[in-house]
Amino acid sequence: MKRSSLMFTSGLLLAAMSITFAAGETSIDDRVTMSRQTAKQFMQSLKGELQAAMKAGGPVNALGVCHTKAMVITQQHSDAKGWRVARTSLKTRNPANAPDAWERSVLEKFDARKKAGEAPQTMEHHAVVEQGGKKVFRWMKAIPTQAVCLNCHGGDSVAPAVEAKLKQLYPTDQARGYAVGDIRGAFTITQPID
Ligand code: HEC
Repeated sequence: MKRSSLMFTSGLLLAAMSITFAAGETSIDDRVTMSRQTAKQFMQSLKGELQAAMKAGGPVNALGVCHTKAMVITQQHSDAKGWRVARTSLKTRNPANAPDAWERSVLEKFDARKKAGEAPQTMEHHAVVEQGGKKVFRWMKAIPTQAVCLNCHGGDSVAPAVEAKLKQLYPTDQARGYAVGDIRGAFTITQPID
């Protein structure tokens, strides 16, 4: 190929690429990367609040802080992106976090994947699905249970004072009886596509 035609071909290629970018198409890989970053920031905000509240007044105090702040932080992260950013679980504490059908099936698959030997720390799933007649990108990432979580999500490890406050704040609480390494739930993100 002559040098001039090579330049012409690569010029066309560049033009085609810039049209794609101009149309604002975001690749699935980019959506996965953005979801990971957003979930990380979301987790850090929640963790920051939890750690500060535990330090200031132990688990009973932290429980009250989670109760008033968790959903506010969740909403802030959704608003900042224009996506739905949330946490869900097969056994929820706050019924507002209950999974929809798609999330439920992914959570069940996460549990099956863990049973088959996969580590929950890196467990993810994504898909493009139709929702209300529109295409959306959906992404979930498993949240493993750590030792600190057992203060409020364990079985016998939950102190009587925490137990009493849980009963008062969450009469339908199901998020108990977890052990370290169990999948406590998942981050869930929905990005509109068109
Ligand atoms: C101080 C008590 C406390 C500790 C410690 C705690 N949580 Fe929670 N957790 C809560 C409360 C309270 C809620 C409900 C918040 C709300 O009202 O939205 C909750 C909700 C959740 C949810 C949302 C789903 C649901 O059940 O409603 C997930 C997921 C979760 N916690 C995971 C964890 C993980 C993982 C850890 C450890 C890293 C942890 N939590 C530690 C009190 C706690």
